[in-house]
Amino acid sequence: MHDKRLLIAWWSNTGGTASLVEAASQGAQTAALTLKATDPGSPSLDVQSVRCDLLSLEALLQADGLVLATPECLGSVAGPMKTWLDRCYYPALDRLSGRPYAAIVCAGTDGEGALRMLDRVAAGWRLRRAAPALKVITGAQTPEAIAAPKRILPTDLGRANELGATLGAGLLMGLW
Ligand SMILES: Cc1cc2nc3c(=O)[nH]c(=O)nc-3n(C[C@H](O)[C@H](O)[C@H](O)COP(=O)(O)O)c2cc1C
Repeated sequence: MHDKRLLIAWWSNTGGTASLVEAASQGAQTAALTLKATDPGSPSLDVQSVRCDLLSLEALLQADGLVLATPECLGSVAGPMKTWLDRCYYPALDRLSGRPYAAIVCAGTDGEGALRMLDRVAAGWRLRRAAPALKVITGAQTPEAIAAPKRILPTDLGRANELGATLGAGLLMGLW
């Protein structure tokens, strides 16, 4: 059985999404280590967390599972995430079908537009939702609050950790 690769493709302007991505990555790695301890023969998990402007099509195609993580900006995904999706959407069409995915959106007050956009891309790629989308609201809506570095509450970091653990463990157990 070959080792499994979980790819987290992300963007963050002021650190909120980045913190959630770090928590999801840790959750996946901890779940993998726990499984390995109980069954040393099980495959290993390679968790790659890559900022989307640095993420190649090849790395996307090699992923066994995918997390898409972005702030909401102007009712959609952040610009760099949109640029990456524009670059990879058609080249990856029909080449990711059935792979598990989950979405993370960090938003000031809403987040639904960004989630809809990610879900449309996931539907086009025929990805399989492996965990409910995680939406975290930071409350930022004044220019000062929007520009400030974001601190994510421990409960929300815990939810991101759980999302990562679900994908990591599910991939290793061959659920998808
Ligand atoms: C240009 C811009 C547009 C934004 N538009 C929205 C929006 O449409 N809906 C929303 O809920 N938050 C919006 N926000 C707020 C961000 O989503 C929020 O600050 C989020 O926590 C940023 O995540 P990050 O720290 O990972 O960059 C916007 C922020 C910026 C900079």
